Amino acid sequence: MSGRLSAAPPPSVRVRAPGKVNLALRVGPVGSDGYHPLATIFQAVTLFEEVTATLAAPGAGISLTVSGPQADDVPTDETNLAWRAAALLADRTGLAADVALHITKGVPVAGGMAGGSADAAAALLACDTLWEAGVPRSELVEIAAELGADVPFSLLGHTAVGTGRGDLLTPAMTRGEFHWCFGTQRVGLSTPSVFRRFDELAGPSTPAVAPADDTELMHALRAGDPVALGKALHNDLQAPALDLRPELAEVLDVATESGALGVIVSGSGPTVAALGRSRQHALALGAAWTAADVVDAVWCASGPAPGTQIVTSITR
Ligand code: C5P
Repeated sequence: MSGRLSAAPPPSVRVRAPGKVNLALRVGPVGSDGYHPLATIFQAVTLFEEVTATLAAPGAGISLTVSGPQADDVPTDETNLAWRAAALLADRTGLAADVALHITKGVPVAGGMAGGSADAAAALLACDTLWEAGVPRSELVEIAAELGADVPFSLLGHTAVGTGRGDLLTPAMTRGEFHWCFGTQRVGLSTPSVFRRFDELAGPSTPAVAPADDTELMHALRAGDPVALGKALHNDLQAPALDLRPELAEVLDVATESGALGVIVSGSGPTVAALGRSRQHALALGAAWTAADVVDAVWCASGPAPGTQIVTSITR
């Protein structure tokens, strides 16, 4: 009997959180805090990060391991957003930060799809559940926003309008499913450097942003009309991303020539998102990229996808 008890698994919570594509990303003039005001429309897609949080012995602190595609490119120390999320939650709740975190990557690394933000969102929910902290949802969202501008959206998921730094969210109405293919590059782009190049290219005359610029896009989402959505995609960070990585132009061209309904750099890049007419067509767009040898990997997915969710929970 005692043998069975000692073999019981430690309390553990597995959570998954989605990556995203920005259907529209409008960037205003940089503020004194170094951040840019945004008017953006996020869509969560069915590429998921999984974070498993396992209770560690008292005083053990935080530890972190990573597996999955591009795992070698991900830091496993306190600079990792999932680690920072666990530490910040412990700090806010006064609980001991004793947890072993494991991340299984499912979102491209440093690709403009918020994989690191998804890790932070998943770690927050996993640790809150594991430690039975019971932090109210509104407070989790505030902690998420402190960790990064895209973290609150990964908690929420689906499709949402983002203002402020991209962290003030309003859910958007959508119909049906949209089929995407993402072409990624082995070497990522740093988000701050793309924003900096945006400032250099746009100069001091950058106009203020307004979500009202995207009424066509919102209509397309409500109608479930992928053709109209494809035409309405917009990204102010595309020009600076192309300036830093000119070879991305070919990735955009190949998808356009293959009949994509719309093609756009995802967030700060270098991932390129192509919208297909169907799941089959999205797969064909990926095949065209592979045949042209212009991307290092293709990832097909659909949107919208749900936000951060508990997958399994083993408690005491
Ligand atoms: O918030 P997060 O850490 O994801 O942002 C990374 C960097 O991207 C920021 O340090 C900033 O340089 C840039 N950024 C910005 N304006 C935003 C969001 C991010 O300039 N609204």
